[in-house]
Amino acid sequence: MTTAGALDGQVALITAAAGAGIGKATARTLALAGADVVITDLDPGRTAKVADALAEETGRKVIGRPLDVRDEAAVQALVDEILADRGRIDILVNNAGSSEPAPLWETSTESWHRVLDICLTGHFLLMRAVLPQMIERRSGSIINIASIEAWTDVIPNNVVYQTAKAGVVGLTRAAAAQVGPYGVRVNGVAPGLVPNPFLARMIPADDLARLQQNMALDITIEPEDIANAVLFLAADTGRSITGETINVSGGAYMRA
Ligand SMILES: NC(=O)c1ccc[n+]([C@@H]2O[C@H](COP(=O)([O-])OP(=O)(O)OC[C@H]3O[C@@H](n4cnc5c(N)ncnc54)[C@H](O)[C@@H]3O)[C@@H](O)[C@H]2O)c1
Repeated sequence: MTTAGALDGQVALITAAAGAGIGKATARTLALAGADVVITDLDPGRTAKVADALAEETGRKVIGRPLDVRDEAAVQALVDEILADRGRIDILVNNAGSSEPAPLWETSTESWHRVLDICLTGHFLLMRAVLPQMIERRSGSIINIASIEAWTDVIPNNVVYQTAKAGVVGLTRAAAAQVGPYGVRVNGVAPGLVPNPFLARMIPADDLARLQQNMALDITIEPEDIANAVLFLAADTGRSITGETINVSGGAYMRA
């Protein structure tokens, strides 16, 4: 994609972007397209380090701030800080997600709330905080990271995650309908398997192998593939698209 300059002058906020995967790749891609980027993640030191590295690599302003997306007050404080500093947030990418696979009948109430809070409530809190200024400016683009598990039972015993990701798709559609008249777009990207070293801690190796085999394309999906879809939706290339969740799964969503 020819992307240089596509986001010139825009400010993007991305959650969970100091990890090994999609969030960081998205921050890099949006910065290379011209946006100034605020990345957030749980660990303050790691977040600051990744922000500095991305700033050096892309030549853009990249700021790192610690943020647990479940912390309502911290979400609002960060959004207020960015608005005081830059006056606008043009793009929000809700990337935080986590799963704790277990049979439903062995899932604790705490696990249920934890996964829903990180995957779904966090998206809501961030959207609620950034929307007023987007609505006022009649402009803005929100991209929620879902999963093909929103519509497929790819990984057994992942019922809370699947519920949360289906909720992300619903939240995306409902919010898009509500804010569309104000010129704000809300879309989702549903990745298939995007390997990173930390997935193996959450998902059994057999399930990961089956996910890879389920793909129609014989490729490995890279975080940058998801980031490119986010950029497409965030930039003017996506100006007529809202309420959609796009699968980036090498065709795996058809085969689960
Ligand atoms: N990797 C995949 O195969 C895959 C597939 C489908 C969907 N997804 C979704 O894509 C998104 C990114 O996943 P990824 O695997 O690329 O990892 P990533 O590196 O982009 O994100 C992981 C980061 O999330 C952070 N995080 C965890 N809990 C948090 C919280 N409460 N608040 C803020 N940050 C928190 C972690 O610190 C970590 O740095 C997630 O929403 C995930 O569910 C991933």
